[in-house]
Amino acid sequence: MCGIVGFTKKKYRSACCLEVLLNGLENLEYRGYDSAGIAVSDMEHQELKLCRAVGRISNLRRVVEEEKPEGSCGIGHTRWATHGKPSVENCHPHLAEKKTVAVVHNGIIENYQALKLQLQKEGVHFASQTDTEVVAQLLEKQYCGDMKKTLERVLPQLEGSFALAILDRNQPDTIYCARRRSPLLLAKGEDGAYLASDISALLDYTRDVWYIDEDSIAVLTPEEIMFWKDGEQQFPQSVHINWDSSAARKNGFDHFMLKEIFDQPTALRDTLNHYVDVEKGIIRRETMPFTMEQAKALKRLTIAACGTAYHAAVMGQSLLEQVAGVPAMAAVASEYRYSTMPPMEGEVFMAVSQSGETADTLAALTHKKAQGLRCLALSNVIGSTIAREADHVMYTLAGPEIAVASTKAYLTQVLLFEILALDLANLRGVLSDEELKVRIAELAQLPEQVEAILASKKTVEDFVQTQKNCHDIFFIGRLMDYASSLEAALKLKEISYLHSEAYAAGELKHGTIALVDESCLVVVTATQSVVLEKTLANMEEVRARGAELLLLGHFPVDHPHDCTVWNIPACSDQLAPILTTVYAQLFAYYMAKMHGCDIDKPRNLAKSVTVE
Ligand code: F6R
Repeated sequence: MCGIVGFTKKKYRSACCLEVLLNGLENLEYRGYDSAGIAVSDMEHQELKLCRAVGRISNLRRVVEEEKPEGSCGIGHTRWATHGKPSVENCHPHLAEKKTVAVVHNGIIENYQALKLQLQKEGVHFASQTDTEVVAQLLEKQYCGDMKKTLERVLPQLEGSFALAILDRNQPDTIYCARRRSPLLLAKGEDGAYLASDISALLDYTRDVWYIDEDSIAVLTPEEIMFWKDGEQQFPQSVHINWDSSAARKNGFDHFMLKEIFDQPTALRDTLNHYVDVEKGIIRRETMPFTMEQAKALKRLTIAACGTAYHAAVMGQSLLEQVAGVPAMAAVASEYRYSTMPPMEGEVFMAVSQSGETADTLAALTHKKAQGLRCLALSNVIGSTIAREADHVMYTLAGPEIAVASTKAYLTQVLLFEILALDLANLRGVLSDEELKVRIAELAQLPEQVEAILASKKTVEDFVQTQKNCHDIFFIGRLMDYASSLEAALKLKEISYLHSEAYAAGELKHGTIALVDESCLVVVTATQSVVLEKTLANMEEVRARGAELLLLGHFPVDHPHDCTVWNIPACSDQLAPILTTVYAQLFAYYMAKMHGCDIDKPRNLAKSVTVE
């Protein structure tokens, strides 16, 4: 989705403002966009200069090279069209009619039509179809000689969500910002002050950032950043992000997705070591969200999330129930945010979100918080909105995830559910300290087991070459294998655009089996011993309809199943779905590559979905 970057440079520093803006926008490309633009304050001519282009940042670079705008303070934006088609006119930044104000915006101004109509009645002419232009026009129209005061007057008129960065022609070294339900972070570096909607844009310059509070204003000059809320100046603490900027590069891999699949052993190790003392076989108490008393009082954990994070939640639901005996419910956040169910005594809510910014997940959390529930979050981004809104956060230590298709975030989310379930089981007295040690020792083997699967990527690649004509793929499994099948099917469809569906293996014959014929591939995941025979029987049902079969699990070399088998290393039933998922990720990746798809930036998708 849309991305914002801004920079105001100190005098006599060598940094080039245009380069900081363009580089920042390039680092935000992974979020998905269809056009991009920058605005700079040209001090000498006292004007705001715009450069905008449809398509890739390389197109914008060409426009910048041709027009050579000058300035040491500017804002930039990558746009993912919502109001108005991708075109230069609709591209951000937007200038107000008299060109005194330039604005970039993430989010949606829900009442923009009413505001636009009113401004048009007052004689204002609009140049675009966007909701954002309304903000620029309002700021110019209601300008009182002080942009901060003008913003304080304009912001209450806006309904919806926004992260705004604003240039005022009268203050050519200053950037004004404001936010409501859309992320924005600010930073000071040696060369000046920065802002961005996402830390990835700033990793080349700094690691210490400030988050702006909801409905607050920030003012950036080259030397300082000031924060204001309800007319009062605020002094928030900065947050240190210890991501390495090289973690946000491809490092020799063809795609970020493949690199991130290969990052998984490290991501699992880092996450595990943060929460668990593997040598002592204990969970680090201070990292966990429940005390013994709270664990015993827990009656239900409701988990809301979207997409892949929802699939991790489904996995979490099984783990919490099986391992800790805690009733749990995974819910799709876009539905659950409208749930009318009253909170239950002993219920705790959890939001799962890699980015920590997904609008529906945030709304579900806000809804539950308003009902008075204790709210936990599981996120990959330190200081993200969901992390800040929650009462307790468990961070996955996966590092920056750039590919739109989530891989390492998912695996570490499931790992955290494993750890949480073990901790709750131990605190509730259903798992002894000795048993916990054994389970931790199993967890500690996961990174190497994932490495072993990654080492067999050629097997996956070769199999994919036999599937050139396959256009319908079903993923079936039972219990936790059904949960991992959901994720396998999503991964494949989102990056290869092939039709794929996941079914609980026993459910297939209640309708969908009508679609199965010799043109289909059915991927059967069978790792759950309690239902193993039943899953294999379901496999025979699809074989009988002529489908080609691929079987994932642990099977002896001389297995009797007449189909391709991909084995995972020996492990418990609870950890097996993590390992089969690695095969599914590689399978999706090579299928998409064979079909020539834009793997890191699949069509119509955005990395962080910050609108409803
Ligand atoms: C799919 C994918 C998406 C996200 C979903 C939620 O590969 O990445 O389905 O999982 O948009 O995003 P987060 O986890 O950032 O809330």
